[in-house]
Amino acid sequence: MCGIVGYIGKNNATPFLIDGLRALEYRGYDSAGIYVVSAGTIKRAGKVEELAKSVPEGFSGTAGIAHTRWATHGLPTELNAHPHADESETVWLVHNGIIENYAELRDALSAKGVRFRTETDTEALVALIASKYDAKTPLEEAVRAALAEVRGTYGIVVASVREPEKLVAARFGSPLMLGIGTDGYYIASDATPILKHTREVVYLDDGEMVIVTREGYDVRTREHEPVKKTVETLEWDVEAVQKKGHEHFMLKEIMEVPEVIENSMRGRLVPDEGTANLGGLRDVLPRVKRAKRIIITGCGSAYYAGLVGELLIEELAGIPVEVEIASELRYRRPTMNPEDAVLIAISQSGETLDTLEAIKEAKRHGMLTLGIVNVVGSTIARETDAGVYNHAGPEIGVASTKAFVSQLTVLSLIGLLLGRADSLSATDGSAFVRELAALPEHARTVLSRAAHIEALAKRYASMEDALFLGRKFQSPIAYEGALKLKEISYVHAEGYPAGEMKHGPIALIEPAFPSVVLAPRDSLYEKTKSNIQEIRARSGKVIAVTTDGSEEELAQVADDVIAVPKTHEALLPILTTIPLQLFAYYVAKERGLPIDKPRNLAKSVTVE
Ligand code: F6R
Repeated sequence: MCGIVGYIGKNNATPFLIDGLRALEYRGYDSAGIYVVSAGTIKRAGKVEELAKSVPEGFSGTAGIAHTRWATHGLPTELNAHPHADESETVWLVHNGIIENYAELRDALSAKGVRFRTETDTEALVALIASKYDAKTPLEEAVRAALAEVRGTYGIVVASVREPEKLVAARFGSPLMLGIGTDGYYIASDATPILKHTREVVYLDDGEMVIVTREGYDVRTREHEPVKKTVETLEWDVEAVQKKGHEHFMLKEIMEVPEVIENSMRGRLVPDEGTANLGGLRDVLPRVKRAKRIIITGCGSAYYAGLVGELLIEELAGIPVEVEIASELRYRRPTMNPEDAVLIAISQSGETLDTLEAIKEAKRHGMLTLGIVNVVGSTIARETDAGVYNHAGPEIGVASTKAFVSQLTVLSLIGLLLGRADSLSATDGSAFVRELAALPEHARTVLSRAAHIEALAKRYASMEDALFLGRKFQSPIAYEGALKLKEISYVHAEGYPAGEMKHGPIALIEPAFPSVVLAPRDSLYEKTKSNIQEIRARSGKVIAVTTDGSEEELAQVADDVIAVPKTHEALLPILTTIPLQLFAYYVAKERGLPIDKPRNLAKSVTVE
């Protein structure tokens, strides 16, 4: 998705802006551009490196804005790249989000004689600002007046040739933060470009704008009311966003899983009482405990984590749970009874638009909304009534790995907490806590077997299709395993509940169509083993993922076996997902693909 950086201060803005764009590359983009006050603008379709190479010596100034664009309106061309300017090239703008009424705005401005160069919604916005920007009007007033006529979402930073000593930024539905440095002010759509320069930040909220000069900043509402903001300290450092010697962020992030599980549980286990302590839920706990229904929502991997959460909460706490893909939930006829239902939204980035809109819809109906979010201070974290942070650290690889595992961990803690409020005994709760506490070590054991998974992945790397199967707690992991493989290796993969196989997918089975079957020794082991036999009877190859001690038995029926340590059935997804992440990673590596930035995908999906 698009990314924004801006700078005003004592230094030359250009190096920060280009570096900032590099830091934002992980979000996915298709063109990039920069505007530096008193130097001019440069834009390029394609990579930030192309843009960097085009910046001439002496392209400098002490204020500027830059952008990575992910095309929504108009092709990913140099012309459509940001920053955009009005016809007279006085006002310059970078924009994330979508202006929904841009066609109307454009028509109205065209009728007044304004000419447009592009098909973009952003150009309509910058032209609108310019139309309000007469000689007596300061830039912030023109921006304010224009935004009052806009429908849609935006995170914008505006610069003007006439007022080179200021930048104006505003936010509605698209994140923006201001970094406060010793040598100037940094604006960005997320923390990664800012981290090297300062940890002191101010998060803009929806409907707020900030006027930034070299001397200071002034946050206002769109109605011009002053807003007192708290300066917050970023916890992540630059080191955390580097690859730590691994070839890809994805591998680095999978290798961090044991530590991530620890971090997600840190200070949250109460062994004596056999329960979990989740500070973020404390104030709303009585209402959550009374819930007669829980709705979990999210997109992609977060949705699959929700499916595991459904089983966990139902098994441990007996509360009926429904899981709905956010892009569907937001348009469903609401049958939620606000009094006794709770919405749990899961999002690594905390910026996924569909998830955010599902939350807003639930709030409109008076429901209590909770978030399971990784990015502190993100929009979903702030939009929900309460929640639990993942503490998984920044996830740069586009395909979610460690964040998915941490979502499962947090859901286990919520299941335990609600279970203890229901009929889960203290003894069973304590046993569950012990299993949770052992998970980081178990995850290390799984990772120590990475070489075996790599060898296996190399043998299967030329496949063009794959089927992933599992039952009960393992069926969402089958979906997730298939998603991971298709995302980064472009192998067509389908995830199915194993029992559903005979209702259709079995027709696909033949020697070149391997199946990955999740068959840990859980309550459905024998049934899953029968599914493996059915595949083998049709000459299909099988990779079985099982638990320690069952390797030999499964080797009789499967072609290859991967084992993970034993744990409580409800916690096994946390372990069985790791070999599937590694499998997808090594297959993609063998196929020579751009693992951290797969084609067509973006890290945070902030458009519908
Ligand atoms: C899969 C993946 C996506 C995300 C989805 C939701 O590897 O990364 O499916 O899980 O786009 O993103 P968040 O969790 O940021 O809301």
